[in-house]
Amino acid sequence: MVLIIMPLEMTFGGVLNRPAVRAVAFAGAALLSGLAMAQQVDPAEISRGAYLARVGDCIACHTAGPESPPFAGGLPINSPFGIIYSTNITPDPTNGIGAYTLADFSRAVRYGVAKDGRRLYPAMPYASFTYTTDDDIRALYAYFMNKVAPVNHKPPETKLPFPFNIRLSLFFWDAAFVKRVRYKPRVDRDAQWNRGAYLVQSLGHCGACHTPRGLAFQETAYTESSPRYLSGAVVDNWYAANLTGDPASGLGRWSEADIAAFLHDRGHRKQHPIFA
Ligand code: HEC
Ligand code: HEC
Repeated sequence: MVLIIMPLEMTFGGVLNRPAVRAVAFAGAALLSGLAMAQQVDPAEISRGAYLARVGDCIACHTAGPESPPFAGGLPINSPFGIIYSTNITPDPTNGIGAYTLADFSRAVRYGVAKDGRRLYPAMPYASFTYTTDDDIRALYAYFMNKVAPVNHKPPETKLPFPFNIRLSLFFWDAAFVKRVRYKPRVDRDAQWNRGAYLVQSLGHCGACHTPRGLAFQETAYTESSPRYLSGAVVDNWYAANLTGDPASGLGRWSEADIAAFLHDRGHRKQHPIFA
């Protein structure tokens, strides 16, 4: 098993794991944290991070309930394989992500690998978050480290039945289905279109619910280059509607104001299947 995994690890996921790279990253991180102590993080970057955390709806999955401390984890999420508990992403050093460097944070959010090397279950939408830009990851990190209150709370552990308890097998799932790429702006569209498409595909992770899943529970498309993207899917026994411009079954007859009103006022979140 080890023999098979080693070379693949090096090819796909291992870049940050190589000792030399890690040593350099560590030195860099030490230097950076020294700098951070010397100079304040730009407040504008922190508030941009707060906005991006709302786009990603991190709070919905990472908070156990309305009475629970924000971002301290413990929300049970149904999956076809069993219940997956979200983890504590407050900057608490023992039970949260307080010890995460920017590089660790980026790897967890965009590649689904925790600081200790644990492969995250794709209930964490890293397959979409991988499209997020470096600038936005930095802003999110600044927000979590500087504005979120640390909570020393250990959420329940996720215990899936065999073989899903073997997190290493997710390595193959990732290699097969997760494209480790950033959002590529389309030159035939204007800046506003690209901004919207970027937010939808990356932090918004709309496709995690609105794109049909394949046999391995992978999303069958991640961008509008496939007609399946956002064409509607069943989530936890709810139907997440077709969001394409199709006038019969999609949002083709919705105006921009209708969509904005639905998302803001009536609260997509309130009617949300897993965020109830
Ligand atoms: C749809 C639900 C969902 C959303 C939305 C979500 N997460 Fe997660 N996240 C999870 C789950 C579940 C885990 C734990 C997965 C596991 O245990 O394998 C996780 C794990 C993590 C981890 C790894 C922490 C650790 O050490 O265990 C980080 C960091 C993280 N999420 C950050 C974020 C950020 C930042 C956002 C918003 C941009 C976000 N998550 C949005 C479900 C979600
Ligand atoms: C965690 C799952 C989930 C995510 C993520 C999600 N949605 Fe939804 N969405 C649903 C479900 C389920 C419904 C249908 C139930 C309802 O009306 O709330 C829905 C309904 C909608 C509708 C109404 C469509 C109609 O015809 O009734 C719109 C518009 C929408 N979502 C847009 C979005 C956008 C834009 C994003 C990304 C920013 C997004 N959704 C992310 C689950 C999700």
